[in-house]
Amino acid sequence: MTVPELAIGAALVLGTIQVADGALSAGTLVAFLSTALALRWPVDAMGFLLAMSQEAATATDRYFDVLDAEVEREGRPGPGDGKGHWGGQEPGDREGHGGGEGHGGVSTSPVQPPTALAAPGRRTGPANGAGAGAGAGLRFEGVRFRYPDASEDSEPVLKDIDLHIRSGETMALVGGTGSGKTTLTALVPRLYEVTAGRITLDGRDIATMPREELRTLVSMAFEEPTLFSASVGENVRMGAEQAGDEEVRRALDVAQARFVDTLPHGPATQVGEQGLSLSGGQRQRLALARAVVGKPRFLVLDDPLSALDVHTEALVEAALRRVLQDTTALVVAHRPSTVLLADRVALLSEGRVSAVGTHHELLRDNAEYAWLMSGAHAEERDR
Ligand SMILES: Nc1ncnc2c1ncn2[C@@H]1O[C@H](COP(=O)(O)OP(=O)(O)O)[C@@H](O)[C@H]1O
Ligand SMILES: [Mg+2]
Repeated sequence: MTVPELAIGAALVLGTIQVADGALSAGTLVAFLSTALALRWPVDAMGFLLAMSQEAATATDRYFDVLDAEVEREGRPGPGDGKGHWGGQEPGDREGHGGGEGHGGVSTSPVQPPTALAAPGRRTGPANGAGAGAGAGLRFEGVRFRYPDASEDSEPVLKDIDLHIRSGETMALVGGTGSGKTTLTALVPRLYEVTAGRITLDGRDIATMPREELRTLVSMAFEEPTLFSASVGENVRMGAEQAGDEEVRRALDVAQARFVDTLPHGPATQVGEQGLSLSGGQRQRLALARAVVGKPRFLVLDDPLSALDVHTEALVEAALRRVLQDTTALVVAHRPSTVLLADRVALLSEGRVSAVGTHHELLRDNAEYAWLMSGAHAEERDR
């Protein structure tokens, strides 16, 4: 942009000197300058055009990425489907053998339709005895998981997970970094499909549920939450559109997200990619509010308090305790104070559940747990 300006300036100065010396006619100088000025804009425009075509190429790529994305497959195929494994449609499917291995589709699918039919009636009456059976709550049965992009002979991230979170119970999930906590929580809302085994909610295999229904039942908040380009209120209400202002307010209170009122337009403030940027702790608290807003039956929280200061964390915990009373929850925790919200604790080490018990039992009997809960571990992690 600057070079042509400078060139024309220089031509003007040099030309004027030459005209004064008589070496150049004034007409020639004027003709040169007007030609140069006339060409200036088209040349600039070519530069813009090149830059814009690059942008357009990138945007087109992205556009087709989205358009070409495979629609997530719904539940398992019915018993009539002879193959017994999924249609091979989404990334989670690449391993292909998922349905055929272990407890995959073949062995379980014939018994599924009756279960699926019986369940809705069961869920409408929470106090109804049918739901209080062995299957009630959130149950992992022989769950094994390997990321779809991992090679087939690598160690699975999760191995033979058997875990039963009883209806209404809160289970804390504790484990070292990389032990598979995030992965385990992501399996519940089916962000990934289990490689083998199954997960049931009140006795229903989540693989047979329509995703929309599953994600209405299960609310989640992750350590690194995503806020969408929308207002704070819309972000909190996402997934529970029927929630009124009163309910949003209550959820924000639980998450100690009163900072919302100090934003320029209160809950109507735009956040996310095209709006105001929030701090990590603020985003976590909005995500937590989003998770608790619809009074979910199942709550999955992956270390949702990690970016909060100790003081705010204590306030959130106190408020969360009330919410947890009415839900079945799986909460990944690092600090003893968060663990104490839970009725029982499951210790995950290297992809296996190595111990289950109350905080005090594990603290007394399990050296790894005691080490994880001691400050020594936290210091090591922060370093
Ligand atoms: N998207 C992914 N693709 C492949 N491997 C992953 C992915 N996310 C996590 N892993 C691997 O899975 C293991 C468990 O990770 P994670 O569940 O995030 O552990 P935690 O939350 O307990 O720290 C780690 O070894 C990690 O490298
Ligand atoms: Mg994690």
